Amino acid sequence: MKSKLAIHGGNPVRSRPWPRWPQWDESERAGLLAVLERGQWGGYDAAVSEFEAAFAARHVARFCITTVNGTTTLETTLRALEIGPGDEVIVPPYTFVATAAAVRMVGAIPVFADVELETWNLSMPAMEAAISRRTKAVIPVHFGGLPVDFDRLLPLAARCDLAVIEDAAHAHGSSWNGRPVGALGAVGSFSFQASKNLTAGEGGALLTNDPLLAEKLWSIANCGRRRDGPGYEHPYLGTNLRLSGWQAAVLSAGLTRLDDQLQRRMRNARRLRSFLTEIDGLTPQRWDPRADAHAHHIFLMRYDAERFGGLPRERLISALRAENIPVASIYPYPLYRQPPLVEPFSRVTPCPNGELLCEQTVSLGQNLLLAEPEEMDDIARAILKVRENVDALA
Ligand SMILES: Cc1ncc(COP(=O)(O)O)c(C=O)c1O
Repeated sequence: MKSKLAIHGGNPVRSRPWPRWPQWDESERAGLLAVLERGQWGGYDAAVSEFEAAFAARHVARFCITTVNGTTTLETTLRALEIGPGDEVIVPPYTFVATAAAVRMVGAIPVFADVELETWNLSMPAMEAAISRRTKAVIPVHFGGLPVDFDRLLPLAARCDLAVIEDAAHAHGSSWNGRPVGALGAVGSFSFQASKNLTAGEGGALLTNDPLLAEKLWSIANCGRRRDGPGYEHPYLGTNLRLSGWQAAVLSAGLTRLDDQLQRRMRNARRLRSFLTEIDGLTPQRWDPRADAHAHHIFLMRYDAERFGGLPRERLISALRAENIPVASIYPYPLYRQPPLVEPFSRVTPCPNGELLCEQTVSLGQNLLLAEPEEMDDIARAILKVRENVDALA
């Protein structure tokens, strides 16, 4: 006999809570107390340089510059690269607003190029078709934590003289052919916002291997100072984006857990993926084998309502949520429909895949993937239960 859906008053598949996020323990407490007792508190507390060194080392980058979030990181990078009015920067349409808004914030034009349906990542042919005389840079997003196809991106960008700014807000610890993301392009941008795989509630970081760029990025984020100059000399135009010691202390503690959590998320994602191969109509993000570490900040699926008896995505989501599986749909429409990013504030090339992903994406947050492997089966059971009951839902 079919079990009654929770949305219709039945028992939910799951009653236990999912792992909480953020996670912390005594090491955060000790780090915060050390900042307190050093009595410096501002952005130049030793905790900041300690975290920057550790984060750079983890991503095999020469330089790390922390900032207040993963939005100003992108703006700072564009400024350091001297990108501004008259320039174009290629961005995907299916991403958080910051990726494209940063381009406008420096007076340049975002150019939207389509993503791939299977990976949610920037499509290389679409990117190539979007390049013009004015294009100065591209901002690929490692969407959900899956690195962009660097084997195609890097030669194409080099051939067209484009700076690659990696938006790695979802991709702490991800790697491509054994090389961590973040410093594979000119600059990599990370976010430590509350939902991210490494978090201090807010915060951001830039990675680069280029010493001149590193100096400029640092200066822009530090009131236009020079690292080795006096505090009241400002050779560059800059602002104050310094991360505090409190945030750095929390990030350093979190960083010691990042690799264990990364492995756990990947293990659980594999289990979930093998279950989904049997479900016609919910297709997980393609996991390129060259992405040997995949942060899984978001577990992504593409929903084909036709294969679920025409059940609208929003009904599927409500039914799964009632079973205590907190799925979401993410972006309602492509960024070029957000008022500040419409034409002529942007240039839009055809993005049918981005459009379709706005209609079809069903996602799970990274904290679910920190549960025990058997708990992934709750997700599987809930999906099967909804599938069995589509007639009752329709
Ligand atoms: C892809 C992407 N880029 C940039 C950002 C901006 O980061 P922040 O929230 O730290 O400003 C986010 C954050 O949600 C993001 O998902």
